[in-house]
Amino acid sequence: MHEKKSYGEDQLKVIFTREQIEEKIKELGSRISKDYAGSELIMIGVLRGSTYFLVDLTRSMSIPFAIDFISISHYSEQADSAGVVRITKDLDLSITGKNVLVVEDIVDTGLSLGYLLRNLKTRNPAGLKVCTLLNVEARRIVEVPVDYKGFDIPNIFVVGYGLDYNERYRNLQFIAEFDRSRKST
Ligand code: IMP
Ligand code: MG
Repeated sequence: MHEKKSYGEDQLKVIFTREQIEEKIKELGSRISKDYAGSELIMIGVLRGSTYFLVDLTRSMSIPFAIDFISISHYSEQADSAGVVRITKDLDLSITGKNVLVVEDIVDTGLSLGYLLRNLKTRNPAGLKVCTLLNVEARRIVEVPVDYKGFDIPNIFVVGYGLDYNERYRNLQFIAEFDRSRKST
């Protein structure tokens, strides 16, 4: 049974509780700390959805690293340009010769991550890996490597813990299924 929680007028169906997310992040943090011990690591958050995850993930790590952010926007409204993505805020740090871990909120079609990885590769990092909180294998269009993942989910739309619907719900401490058909905006 999924618990219901209210948020304003909305009743949200909880998919992952705050405790489940915390537990998973601890596991990921210690795996990453072990795997990257002694190497020069840059954690890259993909704005804006991954911010909450990145903050908690990095606080669960026990090795030194640098943090940077990148922001991309999609042109997916136009059918013929699906997967065309543009960088709207680039990294401040150089990643050449560094070990890079890209931190995503969710890998869905894989189109944005695919683009991002191709772009980052041209900067010649020593290593380039991906950590995502959520993974939707059923929606994949482009094959992308997912080296660390929190949870696999089916083809549903989710909000909370950084994930939004029209910029709302990011601050929920849990992840909930969201029925977009009920909303007009
Ligand atoms: P992609 O389809 O893998 O390129 O995912 C693109 C982006 O869409 C993700 O990074 C999220 O920001 C967003 N997204 C995909 N699925 C969901 C969802 O279920 N809820 C909220 N945002 C989503
Ligand atoms: Mg995103």
